[in-house]
Amino acid sequence: MIKRLTVLAALSLPLLAVAHDNQKNPEIRYRHAVMEAMSNQVAAMGLILQNKVDRGNEMQVNARALAESATLIGGLFPESSKGADALPLIWDEPEKVAAAAKSAVEATAAFAEIAATGNKADIAKGFKAVADACKGCHERYKAEDD
Ligand code: HEC
Repeated sequence: MIKRLTVLAALSLPLLAVAHDNQKNPEIRYRHAVMEAMSNQVAAMGLILQNKVDRGNEMQVNARALAESATLIGGLFPESSKGADALPLIWDEPEKVAAAAKSAVEATAAFAEIAATGNKADIAKGFKAVADACKGCHERYKAEDD
């Protein structure tokens, strides 16, 4: 039993050390903060879209906030921020990453305009385009896509 615990501890210590390092790196924390902010905005809009809350008139506020945050994506991966769930590939192909970031900027900007029209079918379509832009980048550059 003790032996098994020791082995477990030895195995998990390096992992903990990595997690700790990531937490200490302010650039990684900043990236996570911005990504989480966008994710929360998407979650808020999802609740509106599914009619779980009657806040259709607030869709565009969330959409504008998301579009603003998305303009930061391209700058979230400085060399000093290697690690966490960002795959090393993201630092090997800056042009593709810039294109993926641009897609997200464009999809979110388009969505902010669509959200202002209040047209439900267009809003659902635009929302999907936003989700696809996030997902497309995660599939290629993020470990453990969820
Ligand atoms: C240019 C590529 C790219 C785009 C576009 C992108 N992401 Fe990410 N995202 C990543 C990468 C890479 C990670 C892993 C970063 C890390 O672990 O440091 C990540 C991580 C995240 C995380 C986890 C953050 C954490 O605390 O671990 C969330 C949530 C997230 N993204 C949401 C979004 C949303 C929502 C969008 C679209 C509006 C989006 N992302 C667009 C590349 C992208």
